[in-house]
Amino acid sequence: MTTDRIRLGVLGLGNIAPLNVQGYLEHDRCDVVALCDNQVERAEMFATQWGVPTVYPDLDDLLADDSIDAVEILTPTHLHHDHVMAALAAGKHVSVQKPIANTVAEAREMEAEAARSGKVLRISECYTHYPPLERAKELIRSGAIGKPSAIRIRTVVGQTDSAFQAGLQADGYVWRLNKLSPGGHLFDDMVHKYAMAQWLVDQDVVSVQAVMRRRDLFFEPCAAVFEYEDPDLLGTFDVSYAPRMWMRSSYYGADEFFEVQGDEGFVWVTRCTGEMMDLPPVLLYQGDQSDPHTVEINDIEADWGLGFTRSSAHFIDSLLAGTAPDLSAEDSIKVLQLCFAVYEASNTQTRVDPRTMTGSVTPHGWAEW
Ligand SMILES: NC(=O)c1ccc[n+]([C@@H]2O[C@H](COP(=O)([O-])OP(=O)(O)OC[C@H]3O[C@@H](n4cnc5c(N)ncnc54)[C@H](O)[C@@H]3O)[C@@H](O)[C@H]2O)c1
Repeated sequence: MTTDRIRLGVLGLGNIAPLNVQGYLEHDRCDVVALCDNQVERAEMFATQWGVPTVYPDLDDLLADDSIDAVEILTPTHLHHDHVMAALAAGKHVSVQKPIANTVAEAREMEAEAARSGKVLRISECYTHYPPLERAKELIRSGAIGKPSAIRIRTVVGQTDSAFQAGLQADGYVWRLNKLSPGGHLFDDMVHKYAMAQWLVDQDVVSVQAVMRRRDLFFEPCAAVFEYEDPDLLGTFDVSYAPRMWMRSSYYGADEFFEVQGDEGFVWVTRCTGEMMDLPPVLLYQGDQSDPHTVEINDIEADWGLGFTRSSAHFIDSLLAGTAPDLSAEDSIKVLQLCFAVYEASNTQTRVDPRTMTGSVTPHGWAEW
């Protein structure tokens, strides 16, 4: 880019906006110049709080503002396709929250429009910018555990009395619980973990077997097995629901655990959304014959919110440097395909290749209430 600053507009000032926009407000080469939400009072409240000069009630007005270089899109997922297509057509660079879209076909249209317009489209994935997961990936890439042979990703949903959770607006739950969404928790939240299943080991999943259940309308406990491009690498993935289990968290009532086993050792990331366990955020075991040992990695920031601020900073830094930010549309499409492959494998009780997913898949019984 020829500019040395980015002028950013934000579309959608709902529940995730404060976490997401913070990284833009803090960036010394980004100016958040306009906010847009059709619930205009929300945009006005944040404009006052953040010192943003302009509020637009309508997307067309935001996109007609020629002073805006890039748009951050934080609207409900079923609107991502239309909002991203409009922003790219208006000549804006675009960052949009995960999941990229409700269908693979829509996501491919978005990718094609970015290529046609010559503008950047990136999908904001806070997990790739969460410092403990970044450190784990660096360790794996540097050969600290040898050749990866197994990856295990665990998610547990429980309860928290965090101020963040208590402050969420109820309307943010409506579109997640009806037919505006292709599925529940395995779509809305698990896309993060599907992204990690491929990003941590730099390999795509090529086969999925899965069994899922439903609890309390939205939650979808699941056990899945992944096969990778390298037949020596296997993945297991589970989601459990513990509605009467309380956990430490500054955000949602959930936490994660990641393990990558290699031929020579393993690495654990012991937390993410929450701070459930009294363990170091990252733990490395190296099974040297002469000196098998454990390295506890405590000198690392482990607040889940950092994934958002660092992801926003990464978008601005990439635009200014002219480099491609993550996640690319292509990577996000692979994430979406893996998500639908899990639903398809559970629906049909067969082994499913994610690369065959071209539309969307809804789990049996979804939104029949
Ligand atoms: N990375 C994460 O961990 C994470 C967490 C939560 C949400 N998200 C994603 O962020 C997105 C937003 O989620 P949310 O929970 O903030 O949703 P939300 O429903 O709380 O907020 C959406 C906002 O968009 C506004 N909006 C809707 N249609 C609009 C339109 N046509 N023009 C202008 N504004 C419009 C709504 O008024 C609302 O303020 C979703 O895609 C969600 O999956 C990501």
